[in-house]
Amino acid sequence: MTENKKVVLSLVQPTGDLTIGNYLGAIQNFIKLQEKYECYIGIADLHSITVPQVPAELRRRTKSVLATYMALGLDPEKVALFVQSHNLDHLKLYWVLNTISYMGQLSRMTQFKEKSEKNEENKNAALFTYPVLMAADILVYNADFVPVGIDQKQHLELTRDLAIRFNSRYSDTFKIPEPIINESTRKIMSLKNPEKKMSKSDEDKSASIFLLDDPKSVKKKIMSAVTDSFMNFAYTEDQPGLKNLIDIHCSFSGESPESIVERYKGRGYGEFKKELAEVVSTFIEEFQEKYNEILKDDDRLEKILEEGLQKSLRKTRRMMDKVYRKVGFLQLGK
Ligand code: TRP
Repeated sequence: MTENKKVVLSLVQPTGDLTIGNYLGAIQNFIKLQEKYECYIGIADLHSITVPQVPAELRRRTKSVLATYMALGLDPEKVALFVQSHNLDHLKLYWVLNTISYMGQLSRMTQFKEKSEKNEENKNAALFTYPVLMAADILVYNADFVPVGIDQKQHLELTRDLAIRFNSRYSDTFKIPEPIINESTRKIMSLKNPEKKMSKSDEDKSASIFLLDDPKSVKKKIMSAVTDSFMNFAYTEDQPGLKNLIDIHCSFSGESPESIVERYKGRGYGEFKKELAEVVSTFIEEFQEKYNEILKDDDRLEKILEEGLQKSLRKTRRMMDKVYRKVGFLQLGK
């Protein structure tokens, strides 16, 4: 990794199994970014415990996310893959940033409002300051770009505010990070309600295709996906169910919507669904083969996380030294 490359950082929570929507929306994008930038991709286990987790399950999911990312093409030679709780610098900066975070601004974060309204137990101090930890994740790497979903945009704005506030209080320290909001790729919608985004947390499991679904059930989900009764094979906003299926096909096959419409014009939706089921289940099968292979080799996974941690520490230690000096902490041996 050379020093003058721009820095890209993103973390993902180890909760819920990933869907093809996560792959086509975010992960595919990382795979491109790794060729050009100095990339840090972390697993946000610290964030995940702001809502109750089953400990053994959390450990399992942490490894599963890592194996998933690697099976989809993130290369540990190019990217630092790490677990957030392994690098304490995130927490050190989190504390410092808490001192310049205003309660008022935090209480306006929509994610906090939504999650804390769900149940009383969720209304904990860590969930309230969750966006401050996220800001620390980003700023401790002095990241230039942060690929996030649109739901995280407000948190990124807070991060920028905190960077500016710190810089003006203590002198120039942090770059002001830019979000990369992934809108270019086709948005994958629910198979049951094409007005809604495909989500890993949808209660109706037949609405989402999970990367770890059994390929047979993937076919079933596609065959029973909601379309319409127009009996008109077209790619239009007026037929959002069919449009979504065509989008999924294009994302995997690289074919254009026009060419698919050309092939299926005048034919029934069922024939198209069969082809799509084949395309997606083949992808899923090949993915799972790699995933299982990676997951089997526990020693290698540990080594990758250890190397990822070392790469990430090389970056964050320097920043934390600087921050501690600027806020006035006594540092030994300096
Ligand atoms: N909050 C993010 C999410 O739920 C995860 C996250 C934590 C993150 N820290 C981050 C994303 C830093 C980008 C940068 O999706």
